[in-house]
Amino acid sequence: MGLGQWYDEHVVPRLIKCACSSSAIMQVRDKVVPLASGAVFELGCGGGINQQFYDPARVTSYAGMDPSAKGLDYTRAAAQALGRSADIRAGVGEAIPFGDASFDCVVCTFTLCSVADPAQTLREMHRVLKPGGRLLYAEHGRAPDPGVAKWQDRIEPVWKRLAGGCHLTRPVGSSIAAGTFALHQLGARYAPKTPRWAGWIEWGEAVKT
Ligand SMILES: C[S@@+](CC[C@H](N)C(=O)[O-])C[C@H]1O[C@@H](n2cnc3c(N)ncnc32)[C@H](O)[C@@H]1O
Repeated sequence: MGLGQWYDEHVVPRLIKCACSSSAIMQVRDKVVPLASGAVFELGCGGGINQQFYDPARVTSYAGMDPSAKGLDYTRAAAQALGRSADIRAGVGEAIPFGDASFDCVVCTFTLCSVADPAQTLREMHRVLKPGGRLLYAEHGRAPDPGVAKWQDRIEPVWKRLAGGCHLTRPVGSSIAAGTFALHQLGARYAPKTPRWAGWIEWGEAVKT
């Protein structure tokens, strides 16, 4: 295994778990994840941080998927610690290993920044949702202020390599709305105590039309 592969497999999941547990990020998770209900699928579930935010009274079944073996270990451990039965699989968002219309709800937090093909991943999330099903999202992305966006463009090439392929410049709401979803944005802001180039977050609900 080369150094790059070792870094991606062992260091990146730990860095992500740490960075994605800041209080600013946890506050946004708390606004979104508890809204999940019915048969739930979480895309990019690696790290398992969202496990603590699901409302067991509302979730009837949970399935999760992520390409990172280490990330999935964390997720399995978190689900087990909560006594939750979970169907957790390795895979990528561009080819979700579940049938059409399988879920009432898809949860996707801080993952569209990292997938190889966001448009295809959105099509896949749409496909696995039942008609009227909801995509609950919280994502960081391209800032609305041109000065901040300019810095995102400059920093992204280096950042991507250090942070497991995480992009800074992907638009959030507009790319979700470009699919056949009705977008209901619930909030957007710069995360406090975070550099603005890394801190623009949008969250909400998108309904399969
Ligand atoms: C910043 S982490 C966020 C993890 C988790 N969603 C959270 O909210 O804490 C990005 C996640 O996207 C996953 N990922 C990367 N490429 C992916 C792909 N093509 N499909 C699905 N998940 C992917 C990574 O393995 C990682 O777990």
